[in-house]
Amino acid sequence: MKFFIDTANLDQIREAQNLGVLDGVTTNPSLMAKEGITGRENILKHYVAICDIVDGDVSAEVISTDFDGMIKEGKELAALHEQIVVKVPMIKEGVKAIKYFTDKGIRTNCTLVFSAGQALLAAKAGATYVSPFIGRLDDISTDGLNLIAETRLIYDNYGFETQILAASVRHTMHVLECAKIGSDVMTGPLSSIEGLLKHPLTDIGLEKFLADYKKGN
Ligand code: E4P
Repeated sequence: MKFFIDTANLDQIREAQNLGVLDGVTTNPSLMAKEGITGRENILKHYVAICDIVDGDVSAEVISTDFDGMIKEGKELAALHEQIVVKVPMIKEGVKAIKYFTDKGIRTNCTLVFSAGQALLAAKAGATYVSPFIGRLDDISTDGLNLIAETRLIYDNYGFETQILAASVRHTMHVLECAKIGSDVMTGPLSSIEGLLKHPLTDIGLEKFLADYKKGN
């Protein structure tokens, strides 16, 4: 499973990249705003700065909701850097835009996916990635991981090549469960990746090894 980090914070992206297990980055307008990145020119520059840090795909989201606007924006984003994947919302115009981008060889990430039907439609349109938001489903008492499992089943039934990108991952157990289900990618905060490191027996064992080494040296 590929690990993406879901942030526009350059320090966090650098830290994840330095860990050596990062495969890409996802951003969205809220994450850009959180970092104080505003204005079209600054936003575009920030995407390039992210691409310069990470070895992998970087999702950059369109703001338009009409077909022509999404196409114009998506082309501009895709031209920024070869690592850019155009993030398009799961709306009717978005599906048309994904199909258009697919035909033009521009890679896409279909975002704001909350049902298996939407995931099926994204794959039919040829999306490179589909992003089911598991954390936001959990937030409303709906099993987000079940959506990953349903999407996996549907895609495997028909051999769709669209990669399942489990999004809105909130914690380490989400990461583990996504891996068990067979999600192709997960995107979450750095803490959800670093949580995989932790085990008290590792800490206790290391402490003992170092103490024993000291005794003999
Ligand atoms: C997906 O690409 C989104 O950026 C993201 O995962 C949303 O996560 P949130 O629900 O934690 O905002």
